[in-house]
Amino acid sequence: MTGAIVIQGGYDVAGDIHVSGSKNAGLALMAATVLACGNSTLQGVPPVSDIHNMARNLQYLGASIKRLDGNLHIDTTRLISLHVPDRLAGRLRASILLLGPLVARYGYAKLSLPGGCTIGDRPIEEHVRGLEALGARVKLTNDYLEAHATQLHGTSLHLQTPSVTGTMNLIMAACLAHGTTHIHNAAREPDIVDLILCLIKMGAQIQGAGSDHLIIFGHGRPLSPYQYKVMEDRIEAGTFLILGAISGNSLTVHGCQTEYHTALITKLRAVGAIIDVSGNSVTVCKTKKPSPTDIQTGPYPGFPTDLQPQMMVLLSLAQGISEITEAVYENRFSQAVGLRAMGANIEICGQIATISGIPSLSGADVSGSDLRATASLVVAAIAARGTSFIRGVEYIDRGYHDMERKLQNVGVKITRVHGLDSTKKIEI
Ligand code: EPU
Repeated sequence: MTGAIVIQGGYDVAGDIHVSGSKNAGLALMAATVLACGNSTLQGVPPVSDIHNMARNLQYLGASIKRLDGNLHIDTTRLISLHVPDRLAGRLRASILLLGPLVARYGYAKLSLPGGCTIGDRPIEEHVRGLEALGARVKLTNDYLEAHATQLHGTSLHLQTPSVTGTMNLIMAACLAHGTTHIHNAAREPDIVDLILCLIKMGAQIQGAGSDHLIIFGHGRPLSPYQYKVMEDRIEAGTFLILGAISGNSLTVHGCQTEYHTALITKLRAVGAIIDVSGNSVTVCKTKKPSPTDIQTGPYPGFPTDLQPQMMVLLSLAQGISEITEAVYENRFSQAVGLRAMGANIEICGQIATISGIPSLSGADVSGSDLRATASLVVAAIAARGTSFIRGVEYIDRGYHDMERKLQNVGVKITRVHGLDSTKKIEI
């Protein structure tokens, strides 16, 4: 059903927001259940549609999955298929995470090519090259990916690009290989650290978590099922911290592992936001005259590309000219269309956006075209004077759990309307 989020903006937000479990770490932890035989319990994983779709992929393979009291119980005792068809794999990027575990455990996998947000080319050669170096034979066509292996063997890998899901796939495969694998130039995102901590609980031996050199001591046998609580979602936390810097009076975000937010907090302070850190809770108050600043996205610990669209909203309200260089994806400025409709002054030239700040945004009828772009439009609409309609709510549902209720609790006038004709523009 088509629908929209309606926001009456221009009011400050105040109070407390609790961050849900991490979508991206949760997706990898779900794939890791294939490395074990038995019933794993994943606590805290948010019931967002990407997680539902990953569950459907696993169910198709034969896993039995139940959600009880907020926990996901995944039983991988009897897998009956090693093939994920297009109608399931095509729904999310993270279906690629099943490749390494299936090949390592069962010696075969066939996946239709993964879907996900259209934010750039999103190649997968790091996954393929790494699995080949571990001993798999991989066939990549325009439609699917097929891999065979009798037994994977430890090896030394050097990633040309520190791919997040690529690193996750190769760690999981290496856990079941015979011998030691080194992954050099590994991605260092906190979601990878969370996966490693869980794999260690499952019996894997891994050194170097959080660094770009990982050493995985493979023992050639399945791991044990786990009971594990996923880390908090740092992109959801970051989205709310940026909201606080725009409209907070004051906003406390609980569930921020602050060591993972250094790049964001540094930039928020550069803009002039007042930030108070107390354990895993961060309180943000808006600055009345935000300063402009320049941002370049990059792999962790750089500024996260997944927070770049939300940060563009803040910089649209700065007193001067800011520049954003999007260095991770080649097509991640789609939010600028909606932000311009709200009055923002943004010029884009290739990977660089130049933002000339204006005093305030105005409500508009806008559409998001991917998860984080749509989240940025929600943030903009909260700051904008007047009413905004935001189409593309299905993107929000992919990755933000209970966003409307959380925002209502801090004073945002937000509702969802269903059954709107997506082609009909609403005059505001
Ligand atoms: N890349 C290559 N070759 C590869 C793989 C990637 O050149 O073989 C390049 C990509 O073209 C891109 C960069 O490396 O320029 C980053 O891609 P990466 O593979 O690291 O991204 P991903 O693993 O597909 C994950 C998150 C994304 C997040 C990125 C970057 C999941 C399921 N997805 O994607 O999350 O943007 O890492 O941090 O973990 C989101 O949550 O909204 C989202 C898009």
